[in-house]
Amino acid sequence: MKRTAPRAAVLLVLLAGLVVGGGSVAHEGATGVVAERMHGMKSMAEDMKALAEMLDGKRPFSADDAKARVASLHHTCHQAQDLFSNGKNDHASRALPAIWEHPDAFAAAMAGFDRAVEALMTATQTASLESLRAPFLDVGRQCSSCHEDFRRPQ
Ligand code: HEC
Repeated sequence: MKRTAPRAAVLLVLLAGLVVGGGSVAHEGATGVVAERMHGMKSMAEDMKALAEMLDGKRPFSADDAKARVASLHHTCHQAQDLFSNGKNDHASRALPAIWEHPDAFAAAMAGFDRAVEALMTATQTASLESLRAPFLDVGRQCSSCHEDFRRPQ
């Protein structure tokens, strides 16, 4: 039982960078596809937070809810690939030009993310909370590494 505490802390650290970064302060003026992208990212952050809370024991584990959350992540991930592909940006956006200057690297980051989400989706089929932990952390790492490379710091 004692061993779960340090692992829970990992989730908090992971999420601090993801969810807190999604505060709605900087979004005035974002329109169209940029606003849609931000919205998608926020919805992914909410799904990640819900899953982390289950892993943390802060929210009752429901295999169905976990499945739905991960399906929603997967759906949003595919949408995001389209929403970034047109190169549109505006002043409210934190998307770095590197996304369109190095499209192959960005596509690789998206593909890595997609694979991680798919592994997590497979893990949800087992209906065991513990089996979600490792693939969840992998997904979180993909979120963070893409943000490091392609998102302007706040
Ligand atoms: C392949 C790259 C990539 C991946 C993977 C990725 N993001 Fe993002 N994310 C971005 C970029 C680029 C932005 C900045 C978008 C903008 O401001 O136009 C962003 C913005 C965000 C924001 C801020 C949204 C806002 O309202 O300004 C949140 C929150 C976020 N991402 C969460 C996540 C979470 C959670 C994951 C993983 C489940 C994730 N992201 C995966 C590239 C990525």
